[in-house]
Amino acid sequence: MYLTHRREDSYLQPDKFQPERFINCKYSHYEFLPFGGGSRQCLGQVFALFEMKLILATILFNHQLKLEEKVPVAPARRGFLMGPQGGVKMSLVVDNAR
Ligand code: HEM
Repeated sequence: MYLTHRREDSYLQPDKFQPERFINCKYSHYEFLPFGGGSRQCLGQVFALFEMKLILATILFNHQLKLEEKVPVAPARRGFLMGPQGGVKMSLVVDNAR
């Protein structure tokens, strides 16, 4: 997974955090596999995606998120997964007009 997600032929500048790269490109299951694959594929995949959509929709419906530090984010291992080193500091901007 780690090496697949860093292939230059699938991902331009693979070490850069560019979530917008997913807007115009639909990666195949052989290029993007955050939940693994085969017989050991993540059992919680469907639940995790549902959970993420629900949480993001709930947050973004009520608030805006503001990035606190515009610095490059390095990846770090978290068990057998990867995550941003030291987290990504954000704050909630409360929209009182709603
Ligand atoms: C963003 C959230 C998650 C990510 C990125 C993720 C990713 C992964 C990955 C990469 C694997 C290993 C797949 C492999 O070996 O090929 C895995 C396995 C597994 N995941 Fe997740 N997972 C997530 C959430 C969850 C949740 C919410 C659950 C349970 C409710 C869960 C349950 C499991 C289990 C039980 C396995 C072991 C499957 C096996 O070895 O047969 N995961 N997950």
